[in-house]
Amino acid sequence: MKFLVINGVNLNLTGKREKGVYGTNSLEEINAYIKAYCEVGEDQVDFYQSNLEGEICNKLHEAFLKGGYDGILLNAGAFTHYSYAIRDAIAAIDIPVVEVHMSNVHAREEFRRMSVISEVCKGTVCGFGAGSYIAGIVGLCETLQKSE
Ligand code: DQA
Repeated sequence: MKFLVINGVNLNLTGKREKGVYGTNSLEEINAYIKAYCEVGEDQVDFYQSNLEGEICNKLHEAFLKGGYDGILLNAGAFTHYSYAIRDAIAAIDIPVVEVHMSNVHAREEFRRMSVISEVCKGTVCGFGAGSYIAGIVGLCETLQKSE
């Protein structure tokens, strides 16, 4: 299977920002960990990060229009909590999207408990650091195998 991991706003600073919340590993290191996990299962994975809302919408459109991906893991960062544009882009595409958060968004500030994208995602994983992405892949594989 082939997956696309999209990270949104501020995730490029992972490992440098709020280390107590997001840990000390950089996004590159987290991506390498995800890639190594995928390779064990002979799955392929591509990575994309942007701080721009419209660029994330463009990437979702591109994945849909060009094809080739079985599933998408999306950590939209703070866009999760207010971006109707990203929500509509997820709803527009015919690829299962898993909402991912490294931190437990339900154990933090009130505004983080609200996700405008959950409703259009296949599922949500939060609170396991880099492991949230791996759990998302496990969930996607379950879903995809059932729909085969
Ligand atoms: C995050 C949680 C969001 O609330 C926050 O804005 C982020 C990262 C996470 O991975 O825990 O930037 O998506």
